[in-house]
Amino acid sequence: MDKSRNVFETRFDRHLDELKWLYIELYGNDAMFAELCDTMRCFYEERNEDLKILDLEREAQPNWYKKNDMLGMMFYIDNFAGTLKGVESKLDYLEKSNVNYIHLMPFLDTVEGRSDGGYAVADFRRVQKELGTMEDLEHLTAACHEKKINVCMDFVMNHTSEDHEWAKKARQGDKEYQNRYFFFDDFTVPEIYENTVPQVFPTTAPGNFTWLPDAQKHVMTTFYPYQWDLNYRNPRVFNEMMYNFLFLANKGIDIIRIDAVPYIWKELYTSCRNLPQVHTIVRMMRMIGEIVCPAILLLGEVVMEPEKVVPYFGTVEKPECHMLYNVTTMATTWHTVATRDVRLLKQQLDIVNRLPKTYVFLNYLRCHDDIGWGLDYGTLMQEGIGERSHKQYLNDYFQGYTGASNSRGELYNADPLTGDARFCGTTASMCGIEKAVCELAVSGTDRDGTEAETIVGNGDAGCAQALERAIRLDVMLHAYMFMQSGIPVIYSGDEIGQLNDYSYKENPHKAADSRYIHRGAMDWKAAGQVDDVTTVPGKIFNQLDRVEKIRKNERVFMADADTWTIDTWDKSVLCIGRYYKGEKIIGLFNFSEYDKTAWINETDGTYTDMISGRPMQASGVNIPAYGFYYLKKENEPGGDSDETL
Ligand code: GLC
Repeated sequence: MDKSRNVFETRFDRHLDELKWLYIELYGNDAMFAELCDTMRCFYEERNEDLKILDLEREAQPNWYKKNDMLGMMFYIDNFAGTLKGVESKLDYLEKSNVNYIHLMPFLDTVEGRSDGGYAVADFRRVQKELGTMEDLEHLTAACHEKKINVCMDFVMNHTSEDHEWAKKARQGDKEYQNRYFFFDDFTVPEIYENTVPQVFPTTAPGNFTWLPDAQKHVMTTFYPYQWDLNYRNPRVFNEMMYNFLFLANKGIDIIRIDAVPYIWKELYTSCRNLPQVHTIVRMMRMIGEIVCPAILLLGEVVMEPEKVVPYFGTVEKPECHMLYNVTTMATTWHTVATRDVRLLKQQLDIVNRLPKTYVFLNYLRCHDDIGWGLDYGTLMQEGIGERSHKQYLNDYFQGYTGASNSRGELYNADPLTGDARFCGTTASMCGIEKAVCELAVSGTDRDGTEAETIVGNGDAGCAQALERAIRLDVMLHAYMFMQSGIPVIYSGDEIGQLNDYSYKENPHKAADSRYIHRGAMDWKAAGQVDDVTTVPGKIFNQLDRVEKIRKNERVFMADADTWTIDTWDKSVLCIGRYYKGEKIIGLFNFSEYDKTAWINETDGTYTDMISGRPMQASGVNIPAYGFYYLKKENEPGGDSDETL
């Protein structure tokens, strides 16, 4: 037996009992299990040597991704750089942006007009031809690895596109393939499902089933009608999807984002969300990854309330996902922007801070999807704030309808029945940069901020001030996000304050889906100005650069640092403390447009403002409107390295 075979066998033996137990419990099919094991072996054999070395390195350092240097950026390949090759040519820009993790938004084969931003995959083994080839992908991941950049991609496992080969065969009446989906002759069973299954896209794609006139069948489509839910009761589906996962892993992918994971198991009379079998499947996926390609991380997309998210980490003995999105914190952040009241956010951060430090969250201000108002309404109710009216307030606020709002953006899937709606917009637009820039550009010609800058000199001081304030809010929100435990991920363009892109309305394939408002093409002209701090892109980029570098260089930002919140006795000021091996930092964030004082009293020594380098006391700190401080405690001479708090 050669050495590499030994490596595989050792990993395989480590997991075999549990893997087999779970598989047989779910499927009771020995032959299919044997096929899975053989195929895993084949994928291991096919994995290239560089990746196998990476596997060993990461196996030896399983906490490799829990450091303070990880910074992610997500983008659609076409929007960012045209093609996969184009992305490769932009690696320098990514490095300059301090990014060492890129999330390539869905890029597998899909059909225009029926793609849901690429989340309707027609072929898991082919890249959309406009973007390049699988070879280009391999080339890109290798180039990224040279620069120590990790590559993340989506693995859309809940459904395939109706244009997938399986779906086509199913539609033509092939029973074998119909059994890979949920097909029904009439609406009797679908109706039972509809009684308990909520809707994901109540406006753009109502209902959970689609009638196929040619096949004379109903098919389950939780998302869009052209996204057919896969039936994971069928072991063929599970096996084939695992092969697709391993195929992609072998292209050099580091992080697999499991799309819409809570939805993958369906059961009559349930909500078809977060069922126990989902956890069995994710656990098996984790083991399969650890056997074939242990360099891989699993990132679960669970856009739900915290108590539903956390189980996807699994347990210490039986881990599931390596990382999960910190979605409630994200939504609560925007609630705080709209209310200038940090109390709910503080409470939410306390919940996260109490979780085991082994959990790694992805922190973000916004992503490619809408912002759903999943807040802790139980707590808000105690203040007399009702769910429906508050959602209405937030949506009004971020559309810019209320007096104190400078935000711009659009609603998403407004449901007339429940009164529910989610929200879309870029960070900059939601922070007021769009409004300020538009008002400055009196002629209304240019949205990119450059023009606005030239106009600043000409006059409207009020607007110029509004722009400065909006930039401060934008930067403060990033600085606050970087202070949280976990890995921050920026949506490409946010680092230069890119605004909403309304051009999607002119594209018939996109017009109905307002999420495209914040998925605009990267503005390379604006990115060309990042070194000029008199421009909007330059101002934002440089201020973010400063905090990103601090984060990267200071150990207090390690994922397993102690993190806690401190009362500031001002409703609008959030205070976060971090402590790691004798080092301590206090972050102060003013969520209001007024100057404030944080009534903290950290009298354990002198502090330094890490942005200006000035010495400061961490008590009674005055903070300008939308300002922030990173205050680092000076270590006494000859001081500690491992003292306790
Ligand atoms: C995920 C994606 C979203 C997509 C959905 C269906 O939630 O983030 O963009 O619409 O899955 O695949």
